[in-house]
Amino acid sequence: MRKIVIHKPGGYEALQIENFPDPAPKSGQVLIETVAIGVNYADCCVRWGVYQSAKKYVGWPITPGFEFSGRVLAIGDGVTRFKKGDAVFGVTRFDAYSTHVVVPEHQIFLKPEKFSFEEAAAFPAVYMTAYHALFQNIRLHPGMDILVHSAAGGVGTALLQLGRLAKCNVVGVVGSTHKIQAAKDFGATHVIDKSKQDLWREAEKAAPNGYDVVLDANGPPTLRDGYNHLKPTGRLVTYGYHTMLPKGSGSGRLNYLKALWGLITLPRFNAADMCDSNKGIFGFNISFLFDRHELLTEGMEALLKWVADGSVKAPQVTSFKFEQVGEAHRRIETGQTTGKLVLVV
Ligand SMILES: NC(=O)c1ccc[n+]([C@@H]2O[C@H](COP(=O)([O-])OP(=O)(O)OC[C@H]3O[C@@H](n4cnc5c(N)ncnc54)[C@H](OP(=O)(O)O)[C@@H]3O)[C@@H](O)[C@H]2O)c1
Repeated sequence: MRKIVIHKPGGYEALQIENFPDPAPKSGQVLIETVAIGVNYADCCVRWGVYQSAKKYVGWPITPGFEFSGRVLAIGDGVTRFKKGDAVFGVTRFDAYSTHVVVPEHQIFLKPEKFSFEEAAAFPAVYMTAYHALFQNIRLHPGMDILVHSAAGGVGTALLQLGRLAKCNVVGVVGSTHKIQAAKDFGATHVIDKSKQDLWREAEKAAPNGYDVVLDANGPPTLRDGYNHLKPTGRLVTYGYHTMLPKGSGSGRLNYLKALWGLITLPRFNAADMCDSNKGIFGFNISFLFDRHELLTEGMEALLKWVADGSVKAPQVTSFKFEQVGEAHRRIETGQTTGKLVLVV
C-alpha cells in the first residue's frame, strides 16, 4: 500500500508518498481499499505540527487524514455489519491519507447510493463537527438566530444546512464575494460578505436582538465581538483558530510571529461576566472524541437518515489526485475554496 507520510513539521514538501506492506484486519476491524479521502483544514495543522491530538496520540512520523471512502477488502473475526466488496465510508483518527485503511467496525458506514465516493469521503468530518456543535452541545429551537463564520467552507456549509434543518435563521459570513452563492446554496438565510461589508453592522441588521449561537473558527479577530453580539442565553462556540495560521504564504510553512501574535491577542473570558450577562462559551475538538462511540453512532445515524430523506445534500467537492496532496493543501490554505476538497486514489 501507499501512504502519505510527514516525518517532521514543514511545507508541502513534507508530504511524502511511501510504500508499506498491505495491512491485515485484526478482530473487530475492517480493511478498506480507499477510493477517495477527505482533505480538512486540520490536516494542514497536522503538517505544521500544531494539532494537539496528533501530538497526543501519534507524534512523528504521521499520516494525516480523518475520513475516507472505498471498498471493503477483508474483515476481521467478529465483524458482522460488513462483507468483502461493500462500498463504505468512514472516519479514523489520522491515517486516512492512504490507499488502505484499517478501522474498527463502528467507524465505517455503508455509502449512501446517492453519494459518489468523493462526496462520501468529504462528508463525515465536517458534518459530525457541525452535528456535535449544534445538536450534542446546544438545544436548538425553531426561529433561533445563528451566525456562522467561514460559511462557504467545509464545516461552514454543514452548519448552514443543519441550522436550516432545525428551522433556525442562519446568517453566514464569507471572506470573499465569490463564496456568497455557495453559502446561499447550502441554506444561509442571509449572507454577509465581510470583504465588502462591515461585518458587525450587517450582523446587527440581520438579528437586531442578538444571536442565540455564534460559531467561530477564526479565533482572535472575531471571538470578542461574537460574544458581545449574543443575546441572553446565547452561546459562543469556538472550534478553530485559522486566522493565526498562514494564508496562501507560498511555502506552506508556519509563520511563528503570526501564531504568537494570535496567542497574545486571543481574548480571555470572565466566568462572572458570563453569569451576569447570562451568556456562555464552549469549545471542542472532535478528534478527542473518538472513544465516545455513542456520540459518533448517534450523530452518523441522524445524519444518514437526513441524507436518505433528502433533507441533507451531498457536500460540494473539488477533486485532486492522491499525488497532488501538496496542491490540495496549498489550495485550502489560500482561504479561497468553497465546499470540500478530496484526494482520489
Ligand atoms: N474543533 C473541531 O472539532 C473542528 C473540526 C473540523 C474543523 N475545525 C476547524 O474549522 C475550520 C474550518 O475547517 P474546514 O476544514 O471546513 O476548512 P474550510 O472552512 O473549508 O476552509 C477554511 C476557511 O477559513 C477561512 N480562513 C480565515 N483565515 C484563514 C487562513 N489564515 N487560512 C485559511 N483559511 C482561512 C476561509 O474562509 P472565509 O475567508 O470565508 O472566512 C477559508 O475558506 C478550521 O479552522 C478547522 O481547523 C474544527
